[in-house]
Amino acid sequence: MKTLQRTLSIIKPDAFERGATGDIINTLLENNFRIVGMKMLHITKAQAEGFYAVHVHRPFFESLTDFMSSGPIVVMALEKEAAIADYRKLMGATDPAKAEAGTIRKKWASSIEKNAVHGSDGEDTSRFELSYFFAGYELSK
Ligand code: RTP
Ligand code: MG
Repeated sequence: MKTLQRTLSIIKPDAFERGATGDIINTLLENNFRIVGMKMLHITKAQAEGFYAVHVHRPFFESLTDFMSSGPIVVMALEKEAAIADYRKLMGATDPAKAEAGTIRKKWASSIEKNAVHGSDGEDTSRFELSYFFAGYELSK
């Protein structure tokens, strides 16, 4: 039996601003991710701080939360077998200089911070992150 998994994806403000949204969604569909929830938001600084609370003591926290609240984003719930690991692979390395050819970050990221997309990094974080942005009734069955 196939075990489907869900993960949270965000198209970050830099990618949205550059008009990359359509291309990124196409890439997800071509790679067999099913989009089970999607919304466009412009989050506040406080909402960005809540989402990235795990990074509160990191030196880039201030800058990251300013950036994530600087413009529209698109949040998506993605479903696939091994969705978490597969989507991390499709995104590429955090630093676009280290991202592999064919990854979303290689194509669209401009720096280690303005790196186009976010993806959950484990089962616990995906559960927290999906529920941060989506109520149960907003997700497809
Ligand atoms: P994400 O959480 O956004 O999917 O990215 P990630 O797992 O690859 O990277 P993570 O270590 O979780 O860092 C979260 C986000 O913070 C920004 N960052 N800036 N200036 C820096 O050195 C630095 N390091 C990380 C990036 O936007 C990164 O995606
Ligand atoms: Mg992360």
